[in-house]
Amino acid sequence: ARVAILISGRGSNMTSLIAAARDPAYPAEIALVLSNRPDAAGLARAAEAGIPARAIDHRRYPDRAAFDAALDAALREAGIDLVCLAGFMRILTPGFVEAWAGRMINIHPSLLPLFKGTHTHAQALAAGVRLHGCTVHFVVPELDSGPIVAQAAVPVHEGDDPDSLAARIIVQEHRLYPAALALVAGGRARLDGGRVVIAGAPP
Ligand code: GRF
Repeated sequence: ARVAILISGRGSNMTSLIAAARDPAYPAEIALVLSNRPDAAGLARAAEAGIPARAIDHRRYPDRAAFDAALDAALREAGIDLVCLAGFMRILTPGFVEAWAGRMINIHPSLLPLFKGTHTHAQALAAGVRLHGCTVHFVVPELDSGPIVAQAAVPVHEGDDPDSLAARIIVQEHRLYPAALALVAGGRARLDGGRVVIAGAPP
């Protein structure tokens, strides 16, 4: 499968996907990196790794629909099969999401359905949970709400602050996202009636 990664920032999850896909046995090829922010540090990291990478600056489009149309055109032009959102900080229009339904996944730094949106580590600390983590899910129009492919949990320690929690979770993100993309790209995680069925997993 030809995969595009959409980023807005440093792209550490992007880097973990690129590294995993270097293995010839990995079922996906990272064919394109797009950023809505021209200054995203991840763009340079992708280019260094030899991946075609470019910015589609959302500020140059009159509205979300026009920006999403430009994204869609770039993805189709590159023959992309699957899209991975990795720290991509733009809300996508329902039309774009529907066009890529079942072919677009996202990583979110919480155990969904808890703590949607931003500042998830502060949300977790405020709620007093003892477990926190990250989730890879299929993208649906409603933010951070799609069918779950995979999750990883970490303990919340006494004295944690949002930064210490983020540091513990990003390590898991970098492990989880390549594993989840391999499931989807390899056809072992598929959508069935709005849920994800994992082939070969124990019932
Ligand atoms: C990650 O925590 C990801 O889960 C969230 O934004 C952060 C992006 O980090 N959506 P990076 O750009 O992949 O380093």
